[in-house]
Amino acid sequence: MPQLASSVENVPRSRIRELAEIAMSMDGVLRLYFGESNLPTPEYIKQAAFRAMQQGFTFYTENAGLPTLRRAIAANYQHLHGVALDPLAEIVVTASGVQALNVGIRCALNPADEALVLTPAWPNGSSSIMMANALVRQIPHPLCGDRYRVDFDALEAAVTPRTRLLLYTSPSNPLGWVASREEQQGLLDFARRHGLWLMADEVYDRLYYAGSSLGEPVPSILRLATRDDAVIVIHSFSKSYCMTGWRVGWLVARRDLAAKATELNEFIISHAPTFAQKAGETALAEGEEELVRMLERLKENRDLCLSSLRGVAGVTVPVPDGAFYLFPRIDGLADSFAFCKRLLEETRVGLAPGVAFGAGGEGSIRICYAAERSILEPAMDRLTAFLRAGI
Ligand SMILES: Cc1ncc(COP(=O)(O)O)c(C=O)c1O
Repeated sequence: MPQLASSVENVPRSRIRELAEIAMSMDGVLRLYFGESNLPTPEYIKQAAFRAMQQGFTFYTENAGLPTLRRAIAANYQHLHGVALDPLAEIVVTASGVQALNVGIRCALNPADEALVLTPAWPNGSSSIMMANALVRQIPHPLCGDRYRVDFDALEAAVTPRTRLLLYTSPSNPLGWVASREEQQGLLDFARRHGLWLMADEVYDRLYYAGSSLGEPVPSILRLATRDDAVIVIHSFSKSYCMTGWRVGWLVARRDLAAKATELNEFIISHAPTFAQKAGETALAEGEEELVRMLERLKENRDLCLSSLRGVAGVTVPVPDGAFYLFPRIDGLADSFAFCKRLLEETRVGLAPGVAFGAGGEGSIRICYAAERSILEPAMDRLTAFLRAGI
């Protein structure tokens, strides 16, 4: 009997999904386990997709995505970051952020190479590295006072001659940590010094609460890097425009990697859905007002959740500057999966277990606060009552 390849057997299943699958088999669950809101995609984006279908955007397109969308993405980088990109050589549209991660990693790593990943982090980065038959070394963010930091000493200690890539996520899922300019520069210098690809997952860059006004993006690593640097930026329409089910994202990379990712796309997905790409163009062109309204709502939700957790003894939760998650650490919690399962079964509140996010994640739980108040408020009431009753 042929067996499954050991390389795929070794890729662990997502423990967020594992919990979600239990929750999906139950009724009446307040669902805060995935990184999305219960609010639908805004109407103007849906209308753009209908129009695109009627206009005939239902055929195959370029492997790198519609040139019009790539130009719109380039214009957006110019506008938001003052960065000039060649839309046809440095941008590849993908069928989601996770597909951008996957193809980018495939282009950067050989089997048995090593990759450093800053954690706690969304598990799909580490798993994509394993799917490329490479090895993951996770380096946890230390919490210093009330801010997470990058452990540059641990990074230096973890580099070997086989290390080829460093992946970080800013704003972070699940921490909400946002890399400072010094930390970005430090990561770039580190990658340059050791000859590594630097992969920056920036899918939450528009969900930022610490700028001078809501709507201001987290500065992209592309502002510091040159176009010849071995930098890969991962992005997506999912989070900023409530388009999780549409599966459209992109990557920005040095030309050689972007060209290879374009070629490989043919064999993986060919390209993102054509009418969804057109809807993405509309989101970029018309989405600012709606985005700012969403950010106002998210910031209020964040503050509501923070204040209800702050009243519970034994819970530590730094203020996140970006994304839409809280990652409270709970004193004495040794099995976050068992905790989340019990919480789900006893209170019908669905959260993601900290253990799903790799090194540094156990002992915490992740709350996605993007849901509407009618879901979030009872969920927080039930969670805090559950915590007060003792773990
Ligand atoms: C850090 C991070 N990167 C990438 C993604 C990918 O998003 P999508 O595949 O929906 O574009 C997610 C989704 O949760 C994420 O949290």
